[in-house]
Amino acid sequence: MEFSIKIGGLEKERSACVVAGVYTPRKLSPAASSIDQVSGGYLSTILRRGDMQGKRGSTLLLHNVPKISSERVLLVGLGREQEFNEQKFREAVRTAIKTLDEIGVPNAALGLTELPVKKRDLAWRVLQTVLVATDSNYRFDRLKSKHDEEKLSLAKVTLMVSGQSELKRGETALEQALAIAEGVNLTKDLGNLPPNICTPTYLAEQASQIAKKHHLKLEVLEKKDMERLGMGSLLSVARGSRQPPKLIILQYSGAAKKQKPIVLVGKGVTFDTGGISIKPAAEMDEMKFDMCGAASVLGAIKAAAQMHLPLNVVGIIPTTENMPGGNASRPGDVVTSMSGQSIEILNTDAEGRLILCDALTYAERFQPAQVIDIATLTGACVIALGHVASGLYSNDEMLARDLLQSGDYAQDRAWQMPLWEDYQEQLKSNFADMANIGGRPAGSITAACFLWRFAKKYTWAHLDIAGTAWKSGKEKGATGRPVPLLTQFLIRKAAKA
Ligand code: BES
Ligand code: MN
Ligand code: ZN
Repeated sequence: MEFSIKIGGLEKERSACVVAGVYTPRKLSPAASSIDQVSGGYLSTILRRGDMQGKRGSTLLLHNVPKISSERVLLVGLGREQEFNEQKFREAVRTAIKTLDEIGVPNAALGLTELPVKKRDLAWRVLQTVLVATDSNYRFDRLKSKHDEEKLSLAKVTLMVSGQSELKRGETALEQALAIAEGVNLTKDLGNLPPNICTPTYLAEQASQIAKKHHLKLEVLEKKDMERLGMGSLLSVARGSRQPPKLIILQYSGAAKKQKPIVLVGKGVTFDTGGISIKPAAEMDEMKFDMCGAASVLGAIKAAAQMHLPLNVVGIIPTTENMPGGNASRPGDVVTSMSGQSIEILNTDAEGRLILCDALTYAERFQPAQVIDIATLTGACVIALGHVASGLYSNDEMLARDLLQSGDYAQDRAWQMPLWEDYQEQLKSNFADMANIGGRPAGSITAACFLWRFAKKYTWAHLDIAGTAWKSGKEKGATGRPVPLLTQFLIRKAAKA
C-alpha cells in the first residue's frame, strides 16, 4: 500500500473514492462540509432524508456526487463529536479502509486525517492512519497455492491535510509512520511463518538481510561460542532440538560511538513444545509465535535504521526451539548460567527466562544506557492483562514511565506490574541459587523477578507480550506488537539526545 499526503480540497481530488466523516447526529465534518458546499448541499439533503445518522461503524457510499471530481464519496460515521477520541479515530480509519477494500477501489483520498483528536497532533493522526490502514490491509497468503481472493485492490491512499505548514509536518510524520509500519509488517511475517520454516537459522538469515539492506553490524554466535561464553542456561533449552541455536547480535549505529546504546533483547523460541514438561495438544500450533519478541526486536531496529534515528541500538536475540528430545533437559536438572548463578529447572516449559538470562548477561558488554527485553513469557500475563496491554516491569521508574507513555501514544499500551523483592521468595530452590518457576500465584511477576536477577548491572525493563503479540481464533495471526511502542520509545530517546 502506498501513501501520499496532499493539501486538501477533497472535492477537487480525482480518485476512485474520497472519504469524509459524519458525526452524530448528522453533523458534517469539515471535509464533508466542503464537499457539501461544492455539490450544492447534496450531502445535507441526503442526511436530512435520514440515510445516515453518523453512528460509529456506519458508512454510506455515494456515486456521481454533483461537481465532485472523484467517482465516489464514502461517508463514515464518527459518533458524537464530544466523544470523539483516539480509539474512535482509529475505528473510523479501519471502517473506511475495510469498506474501500470491499468496494474494490484502487485508490482513495482520506479526509479523516484532519479530524481533531483531543491531546493529539497531526503527526499522531498520520501515524495512526498509516498503522491502522496497513494493519487492515495485511494478508499472509504466501503459503497458499491460490492467493486470497479478496486480495486488495486498494493500492494508493492519499491523506488530505489543510495547509502548507500541515503538509510539511505531515510529510515528516508520514516518513516515520511508513518505516514503523514496515517494521510491524516484518514482525508479523516472521511471527506468522510456520515453525518448520522460521527456525533459529532462518531468523539469523533474516537478520543478515536486514543488516545488508540497512548497513548494520551483525554477529551470529553459534553453539560452540555459547559454550565458550558459559551460556549453560541458554544451551540447556537448545539440547532437546535438532535445530542449532543462535545468538543474533544486530547493531544499528546512528550516533557517536561514545553514546551508550539502547539494548533490545528478544525471546526467540521458534517453537515451544514445553520440552519434557510437554504442553497439551490443543492450540500447541500457536507456540510458533513464541519468537515474537525476537521478531519485534528485528522490526524495531529495521524501523530505527530506516528513520535514521540519531541513536545507537543493539538487538540481542537468543533463539532456539524447545523440544523434548533424548538429550533434552529434565525437570530437576541444575544448570549454570553465564552470570555464574545456578538454576534448578523444575519445569522445562519455563524456557523463555532460561534463554533470556544469558542474553541479559551478554548485554553487559555493550555498557548499555538501558536494556529492554521483550518476550512471550507467561500464560499468567494473559490471565492478568488479557490481550489489551503488555505487562511492563522495570527496575527504574523513569524508564517505566517512558515506555508507558510511548505505548500510550502509539496505542500499543503496556501496564506496569510490581517488581517487588517479596516475590523473590517463590524462586527459592533447595539445590541451586534459584528455581526456574515460582508456582502458580503471580506467574508473570515471578518470571520477571527471575530475569531481574540477571539485570542488576544496568537500567532494565521487561515487556511480557504473551497476550498481545498474536491473536487466536478466526483472525489467528501475529499483531506486530510491541513494535509501535518500541519505535515510539526510540523516537523519543532520539529527540532527547
Ligand atoms: N511461551 C510460553 C508462554 C505462553 C503461554 C505464551 C501461553 C502465550 C500463551 C512460555 O514459555 C511458557 O510455557 N510459560 C509457562 C511458564 C510456567 C511453566 C511457569 C506458562 O506460562 O505456563
Ligand atoms: Mn514454555
Ligand atoms: Zn515459551
